[in-house]
Amino acid sequence: MQLPLSLRLAIEREADDIPTAELTEAAEQLSRSYRNPTAAANAIATARAGAAYAVVRMPATFAAVRAVLNELKRAVPDLQIESALDLGAGPGTVGWAAVETFAELRRIIFFEKNKDLIALGRRLARDAAEPVLRDAEWRRIDLTATDDFPSSDLVVCSYSLGEIELTNARRVFRAGVEAARKIFIAVEPGTPKNFQFIKTLRDEAIGAGWRIVAPCPHELACPMRGADWCHFAQRLERSARHRKIKKGELGYEDEKFSYLIIARDSAQRAPARVIARPQIQKSCVRLELCAADGELVSLNVTRKNREAWKRARKISWGDAW
Ligand SMILES: C[S@@+](CC[C@H](N)C(=O)[O-])C[C@H]1O[C@@H](n2cnc3c(N)ncnc32)[C@H](O)[C@@H]1O
Repeated sequence: MQLPLSLRLAIEREADDIPTAELTEAAEQLSRSYRNPTAAANAIATARAGAAYAVVRMPATFAAVRAVLNELKRAVPDLQIESALDLGAGPGTVGWAAVETFAELRRIIFFEKNKDLIALGRRLARDAAEPVLRDAEWRRIDLTATDDFPSSDLVVCSYSLGEIELTNARRVFRAGVEAARKIFIAVEPGTPKNFQFIKTLRDEAIGAGWRIVAPCPHELACPMRGADWCHFAQRLERSARHRKIKKGELGYEDEKFSYLIIARDSAQRAPARVIARPQIQKSCVRLELCAADGELVSLNVTRKNREAWKRARKISWGDAW
């Protein structure tokens, strides 16, 4: 997966104005902050850090959000999303993924507290092909200081709730859900801690009568126990500049994420979800599944079942089964 071309070019233009050593230092500082939960909330403190985020993190968060929106589209193919609200928008990542998924999108509102990121997000969208991105509304807002969110078909919190202190994050979640006319989505880094947080949001949403769309194939108790946590991976291309400033050799990386998609009304769901990388052997594909009856199941698909075998050879971690 790759960022849209006009976004890639806009990020390159931003980075061209910054000496490589400074961008590298800003990217390293960003990584240090993200490793420290108390520093993560203010990780992007300067314009340089914003540019570093756009180069080294935005492609990955975009890839995760795009994968999640693809899953939503697969589950509810006739879903129409005309308006979207992005809470903790950073440089506008969700907007770019949403326009690729929903051609009918007519209004995007970004809520973000950091003025440098708002300015960056506006500049990045200047040459976007889609008017809805160029004309998007940006509001400088601290999410913890208001729960007055404009009602929108889709509300997304992408890699933002985890940066907010827990009690406030839950308040933002509730207000975000309240504002969602059709769908609410939370995406977080795929760590055990973030999964536990997503799981609490899931329980709360079910309790409040929301319907689970994905990743869970059921609304029963989550069967993940012990050291297991529900997360997925999306492969994305690394730009030459990304490789240079991160001193990476590989032309790609795998972004790990956990997520929750809930719907206000009815939910169409996968019958089962592939929750680990499939083990593909010569005569057997082993699938780890979360099943509709709320159980975790290991399934060995062999050549004997030709139809299942054909599907299993092509299936990926995170797909519906
Ligand atoms: C890791 S970045 C994610 C940005 C973007 N959503 C993405 O997926 O690439 C987290 C963003 O949430 C914003 N944020 C964190 N706490 C916030 C708050 N209380 N109010 C508004 N924005 C907040 C940060 O400023 C930052 O831009």
